[in-house]
Amino acid sequence: PVPAGLGFPGIGFDSIPAETRARNVAVHGGAANAVLDRVTVPAGYTANLFVAWGDAIMPGGQPFSGNASETAADQLKQFGAHNDGMHFFPFSGADGKPSSDRGLLAINNEYTHEEILFPDGQVGNGYTLAKTRKSQAAHGMSVVEARRVGGKWRVAKTSPYGRRITANTPVRISGPAAGHALMKAKEFVITDSATTPTGNMTDGTVCYGTINNCAHGITPWGTYLTCEENWNGNFGGTGAVDTSAGTEIGKLNRRYGLAAAGFGYRWHTTDPRFDLTTNPNEPHLFGWVVEVDPYDPKSVPVKRTALGRFKHEGAQYVVDKNNNVAFYMGDDERNEYIYKFVCAGKFNAANKAANRNLLDSGTLYVARFDSNLSGQWLPLLPGAVGTDGVALRDNPNFSGANDAEVLAKILVKTRMAADAVGATMMDRPEWTGARPRIGGFDEVEVYCTLTNNNRRGTLPASGNPADGSASAGGARPGVDAANPREDNVHGHIIRWRETAKSVLATSFNWDLFAQNGDTATGKVAKPTNDYKGNTVDTPNGSADFGAPDGLWFDQFGRLWVQTDQVGDGSGDFINLGANCMVCADPNTGEMRRFLTGPNKCEVTGVTMTPDGKTMFVGIQHPGEDAVAANPTQFSNWPQGQWSVASDGVTALPGGRPRSSVVVITKDDGGVIGS
Ligand code: FEO
Ligand code: CA
Ligand code: CA
Ligand code: CA
Repeated sequence: PVPAGLGFPGIGFDSIPAETRARNVAVHGGAANAVLDRVTVPAGYTANLFVAWGDAIMPGGQPFSGNASETAADQLKQFGAHNDGMHFFPFSGADGKPSSDRGLLAINNEYTHEEILFPDGQVGNGYTLAKTRKSQAAHGMSVVEARRVGGKWRVAKTSPYGRRITANTPVRISGPAAGHALMKAKEFVITDSATTPTGNMTDGTVCYGTINNCAHGITPWGTYLTCEENWNGNFGGTGAVDTSAGTEIGKLNRRYGLAAAGFGYRWHTTDPRFDLTTNPNEPHLFGWVVEVDPYDPKSVPVKRTALGRFKHEGAQYVVDKNNNVAFYMGDDERNEYIYKFVCAGKFNAANKAANRNLLDSGTLYVARFDSNLSGQWLPLLPGAVGTDGVALRDNPNFSGANDAEVLAKILVKTRMAADAVGATMMDRPEWTGARPRIGGFDEVEVYCTLTNNNRRGTLPASGNPADGSASAGGARPGVDAANPREDNVHGHIIRWRETAKSVLATSFNWDLFAQNGDTATGKVAKPTNDYKGNTVDTPNGSADFGAPDGLWFDQFGRLWVQTDQVGDGSGDFINLGANCMVCADPNTGEMRRFLTGPNKCEVTGVTMTPDGKTMFVGIQHPGEDAVAANPTQFSNWPQGQWSVASDGVTALPGGRPRSSVVVITKDDGGVIGS
C-alpha cells in the first residue's frame, strides 16, 4: 500500500506481478512465445467482461456470431471494433443525484483489423464495397447503456440510447475553419451499394463520419469529445496523389502523412470519398475533435475546428477558479507537439445551454518546453511571429484575404503553424490528464504521456527511417530537456503547472513525473541507464512498465496509467510482460500495478461510476496481427477467460479475439484503488 498525502487518498492494494512469458512457462511448462491470455487484478477485486466487439447495443441488434459473418447493417447495431477512450455518463438516480447503477458509456472504436473483421480477411473473395461498409461501420464510437441489476453489470441490449456513430454518420463542422475552401469536398450520396457523387461540392460546413477515434475528453457541460487520430491511414489513391513540396495540397499531404498506399486499408478502391486522387480535400474533414451529446441519440456530432487539426489523441479540460476553460491535447506522432485551447467564453455552471458553442471561439496554443524547466504557450494566431521573424498572416502557407481566412488556414494546417512558431517536438504525446484540485491541492497541473520515440536521436532505427516522415519533414531533433532519451523505447510522463493557477497563462513550469523502463534490464544505451528508467516502486522494479499511453485522474486524486507496447512479453518487454494499468501517487511518484492484459492487447480506456465503486477498463486488439486463416493464433480472449458476460447470463460464443470493456469491482464494495 501507499500512504495518503496532499490531495491523494493513498493506494490500498499491493502490486500484482507482471504477466511475463516466464510466468506462462511456469504455468504451462515448455517454451512460451506468448503471455497468459487473461486479465488479472489484485486480490480482493473481481474483473469480468462487460461489452465486446459485436455485442448488440440497441433495438434490433443481433448477438455476435462468433465468426464475424455479420454484415455492415448488423455491425451498425453492435458494439464497434477496437475500443479506446471512454466515459461513464450517469443518469439521475431516484434521489436526483448522479446514479452509480445506471448510465451511458460513451466509448471510442478506434480502428479495425480486417483479417479479424471479415471471415475471409481482406483479400478472400476479393475486396468489395460490402467489406468497406462493414469496416466503416465498425469505426467511430458507441454509446452503450449500462445497468447494475442485482449487483451485476449488464448491457441494456435494446436501449433507446444505444448508438453507433461511424465513418458514414452525418456530421456538422463548426468554428473558424468551417466553410473555408479547403473544407469543401466532393458531395456524395451514400447508400449500402454505392457512394455516388452529386456533381457538387459541399459548402464546408457538413461532412460524413468520424474515424480513428483514439482517446477522448469530456466537457464540464456534460458532452463527450471523440478525437480523430490516425485518420490519414484510411485514405488511399487509385492514381497519382499530390505529395509535391510546391503545392498547397502536396504540402498538407506530406505534413499529415497522406499517401497512395495509406495504411493498407482499401476503402478508396470501392468508396471514392476516400480516394485522394479524385477527392483531395476530404482529408481536411478529419483530424478534429468531435463533440457528441450522448444523452441525445438524435444529436448531430460537431467537428470543432477551433481546437486545431492534427492526430488528436485526447482532450482534457480544466476549469480554473475564474471559470476560464482550457483543453489540453496531444498530437500523437513521433516529434509532434502538445497543444492547449482556451475558450474565449467562460464556463457557466448554472446554465448548461449557455456553454453549447464554447468550443467555437478561443485561442489555440502550442507548447515550447525550455531547458530551465519553464515553458511557453505559443499562440497560433494570424499575428503570431514565427522563428523566421514573419507573422503567420504573411507566411505564404497561411496568407489569406483577411485574418478570418488566415485563422482558418492555421487551423487546417495546425502542424505547419506549430512548426513555424518553434514548438518543442515531443516523444509522441498521448493522453493528457488533469489533477483534481481537492484535499488542499490547488494547482492547475496537467500530465501527458510520451509513449516512445525511435526517431529522436542518431541511434539506428528499425524499419524505414522515412516512415513517420510527416513529423516535421522526418527531422530527428536530438535530445532536449523534456525528451532526454535518444532511443526512448519505454517512454515517459511529463507534467506542467500553469502560472498563477490560471488556464489563461502563457507560461508554465514543468518536470518529468516518471521515466519508464525496466529496472532489471541489462540493456544499456546512450545515455547510460537509458532503458532502466527511474520510476518509484517498492520493491524497486515491482511496478515497472513501458510505453505509457492512457492516463487519467479519478475523482479521488489517484492517477491511473495504461500501456501500449508490443504486449506479448517479447524483446525489450521480456521482464515487463503484457500491457498493464498502474495506479500512481502524484505527490511521490510511487506506483502499483493494478491490472494486466491478455496476449498482444493494449490496455486503453478507463472510467468510473460517480461513487468510484465500479471501474470500466478497455482491452484493445487482443491477439493483434493474427491472420485471417487463423484468427485465434495469438489470443481468443475474452472467450478463453470467461464463458459468460458480467450479467452471469449472456454466453460468449467461441471464436476470434474481441476488443472489449471489462468491469471491475472491489469484493468488499469499496472504492477502486482504496
Ligand atoms: Fe491511438 Fe496514440 O494512440
Ligand atoms: Ca522502478
Ligand atoms: Ca492511445
Ligand atoms: Ca499508443
